[in-house]
Amino acid sequence: EKAGFEHFMLKEIYEQPTVLQHTLGGRFAGNGTDVQLELGLDPLAVDRVVISACGTAFYSGLVGEYLIERLARLPVEVEIASEFRYREPVLDERTLCVVVSQSGETIDTLEALREAKRQGARTLAVLNAKGSSISREADDVLYIHAGPEIGVASTKAYTAMVAAFELLAIFLGRARGVLSGEAAAELIRALRALPGLVEETLGARPEIAAVAEAFKDKRDYLFLGRGANYPTALEGALKLKEISYIHAEAYATGEMKHGPIALIDADMPVVAVATASALYDKTISNLQEVRARDGVVIALASRGDEAIRAHADHVIYVPRTLELVSPIVNVVALQLLAYETAARLGRDVDQPRNLAKSVTVE
Ligand code: F6R
Repeated sequence: EKAGFEHFMLKEIYEQPTVLQHTLGGRFAGNGTDVQLELGLDPLAVDRVVISACGTAFYSGLVGEYLIERLARLPVEVEIASEFRYREPVLDERTLCVVVSQSGETIDTLEALREAKRQGARTLAVLNAKGSSISREADDVLYIHAGPEIGVASTKAYTAMVAAFELLAIFLGRARGVLSGEAAAELIRALRALPGLVEETLGARPEIAAVAEAFKDKRDYLFLGRGANYPTALEGALKLKEISYIHAEAYATGEMKHGPIALIDADMPVVAVATASALYDKTISNLQEVRARDGVVIALASRGDEAIRAHADHVIYVPRTLELVSPIVNVVALQLLAYETAARLGRDVDQPRNLAKSVTVE
């Protein structure tokens, strides 16, 4: 069942190149300049997007926010479903409410969907499980086609959810006339290359395992990332917490000096997403600030970036891609870091203590 892998989680991490083909497959159109999604939704009848979900699915929504604002120029809010459902959110029929769920059974997410419907919002569910409760109640469903996910810690569903948001953002941007065919084509080319890039990222496992070995006995980790990769840092920290039980928190890189910098010392490794981006130089200055305080930097960098070695104690190289597509490539390295750490600590990787795969009670 585990197809020769030691754990379901590892098998699912390695399935990601294939999963991404399934998520993206058959959804490009118009000479590689358009996305086709078969939704009843009228993109011109929307002037605001609200995304709601829990846990890892919520983090995929944070990437979605970044993508939809950039590519479709629609205002987006993202909120944890357990907060959203009780907050008396202000919605109307021109609000698109997107709920995201692997299982389609998470009670808070289902109730967030019901609240959105009560208020007359248009609803769309980004889902993995077919025939789930959420699938029966949403106006539209965008399936991620990740296949069954057995490991309690979500991996392939996350990358597939982010890929679905890439599609949705391009779809909305094109339909609303704010994303040019040329810009869409560049993104679509990058998306088509993704399965290969994720495969290459899996090849970094030996270097990642060396980092895991070096820091497995630390009690705390800090993850940093900004822009579309701030959620990557959040997800990396969540994976490490869930399966290794090491305390980890994530901050937006630019926020570090507003507080968490007080924690920096040689005992708390700092994992920084520092791949190619518009704000790369600012990230480098933040790394210098960490090292000036005896902090240990583990940088996730784009292949070919030799200069970063001067600012990091360990460098994990991942393939280069567009900044807007990079969260999918980068998170795979952090999934492996969590896995390699937990496996070394002898943790029950597929069934972490206190966690359930699907949270159907409050
Ligand atoms: C994290 C994890 C949880 C789920 C969350 C939502 O690895 O598995 O945080 O992401 O419980 O679950 P779904 O997506 O089924 O609604």
